[in-house]
Amino acid sequence: MCGIVGVVGLQDCADTLLDSLKRLEYRGYDSSGIVTQSEDGFAMNRSVGKLNALSAMMQEAPLAGRSGLGHTRWATHGGVSERNAHPHIAGNKVAIVHNGIIENHAALRENLCKAGHEFASETDSEVLAHLFLAAFERGLSAREVAEDVLSRIEGTFALAAMHIDHPDMMIVARNASPLAIGLGDGACYIGSDAVALSHLTRSVIYLKDRDFAIVTPDTAQVFDAAAVPVNREVVIVAASQGLVDKGGYRHFMEKEIHEQPDAIAHTLAAMTGPDGTLSTPFSRDELQGIDGIVMLAAGTSYYAAMVARYWIEGLARVPVSCEIASEYRYRKPVTGSFTTAIAISQSGESLDTLMAMHHAGEAGLKTIGLVNVPESTIAREANLVMPTRAGPEIGVASTKAFTAQLTALICFATSLAEAKGQIDARRRDEIHTQIKGLPSIIGKAVGLFDNIRPLAHSLTKANSALYLGRDVLFPVAMEGALKLKELSYIHAEGFASGEMKHGPIALIEEGLPVIALLAADEVMDKAASNLQEAKARGARIILVTEERAASAGDFADEVITVPNVDPLLAPLLLTVPVQILAYLTAFEKGTDVDRPRNLAKSVTVE
Ligand code: F6R
Repeated sequence: MCGIVGVVGLQDCADTLLDSLKRLEYRGYDSSGIVTQSEDGFAMNRSVGKLNALSAMMQEAPLAGRSGLGHTRWATHGGVSERNAHPHIAGNKVAIVHNGIIENHAALRENLCKAGHEFASETDSEVLAHLFLAAFERGLSAREVAEDVLSRIEGTFALAAMHIDHPDMMIVARNASPLAIGLGDGACYIGSDAVALSHLTRSVIYLKDRDFAIVTPDTAQVFDAAAVPVNREVVIVAASQGLVDKGGYRHFMEKEIHEQPDAIAHTLAAMTGPDGTLSTPFSRDELQGIDGIVMLAAGTSYYAAMVARYWIEGLARVPVSCEIASEYRYRKPVTGSFTTAIAISQSGESLDTLMAMHHAGEAGLKTIGLVNVPESTIAREANLVMPTRAGPEIGVASTKAFTAQLTALICFATSLAEAKGQIDARRRDEIHTQIKGLPSIIGKAVGLFDNIRPLAHSLTKANSALYLGRDVLFPVAMEGALKLKELSYIHAEGFASGEMKHGPIALIEEGLPVIALLAADEVMDKAASNLQEAKARGARIILVTEERAASAGDFADEVITVPNVDPLLAPLLLTVPVQILAYLTAFEKGTDVDRPRNLAKSVTVE
């Protein structure tokens, strides 16, 4: 999704802006731009495509100035083109960048056009440049300008505006979209997240919803929604991690698949008490107070929620409802005996999940954020936080964050079960021993690249594929199908194996690849006979299973095996081969594995 950066008070700031934009590349974008301000006025470069195109423009036409804004755009209103790329300039006096959606842009644009403003793009964002221009032209102070503009716009935004007569000042504001202000030595910075700023400063202020700020080289004066000056805490963020690199792998996704043992080990370390026992960040009283859980998430994180439902209901006997965040936020949910909402999000910035969490909070539920980015909005706005420690995930398709989420959730389910008196210390210890063995067993599964390569090669020719799983492996089937379709653009669907006979089995024709997940669990025989039904109708069965369950599917056309594991943890282990299969298929097809078409890493619009 769009990324914003800005600098006030740094000589020749254009390179710094470009560096910061590079740090936001992981969010996904299709065009980019930078504007700087000097005594000669605004100078701007904008380009469609990747940042190296913008970088080449900057070499040819360097931009001078001590203040400036940069932007990576993920198109919403208006196609991908240079004129729709940000920044937008109005009347040669105001430059803006914006992330989010201005919902009332059509009405605003009509009024501004009537007043003589001329628009250069099809974007909703350009109305902001004209609103700021109109407000400055009425002779208002910076604070009044901000109040005026914010009172007119509806929707979500992180925005920044500069005016030509105020070269050392920037107005910034946010509502639902993230924005951080970095305080430096003689210069201030803004960014969509702290990663964009971490090479410049560690002192960061996170604006709250509807806050705005006037940023100068020495200070950031923050105002709340009522335009009253407020003190927002200056947070010291972790030291710069430098630009995350591929570490010798061809793609971030490949690297991140390999990082899963570490991601799980770090997540477990965060859940290990001083005595070496696994626990959660919650007290026994807090756990005992949980009587029903609503899980809120999107995409892959939603499938983590679905897996956790089997664990939490099975072990702790606490009811769980899994909700697609974008649906939940507009529902009138009946909370009944549910006490707690868990918002699951790698980025901690998915707007759908954030808004669903707010909705649950307003309905009286206590909110827990399960997030991978500790400084993210969901982490800051949830009542309690349960962290994953997967490290920065750059590939758009989530891999290590998913298995880290599952790791945290199985620990949570076990602690909840114990607090609720549903399992005894012996069973808890048994499960903990298995969980502690995860990094090593997952390490074996990530070694399967060579085994899976020929299979991936053959899958590149498929037009469609089905993924089947039963019980706790059903969500893994959904996740496998999502990975294949988003990376290789091959149509794929995940189904509960037992549901096939109720309709989807009609899809099966000779040679249709069916990726079948099987574990040595209570439903193994039933799941295997569902696969026989598909096989009998011509499906090509590709079995992904534990060694000891392979014989149950001896009719399969191809088999990928992982080491044996406690059935509880099979979803974690069987996820790895389906990730590798999707990665290698996409690689063979030559798609942009780390940045699949139309997708963004951090989805900060509805
Ligand atoms: C798919 C994928 C997405 C995300 C979804 C939620 O591979 O990565 O489906 O899982 O956009 O993102 P987060 O977890 O950041 O809220």
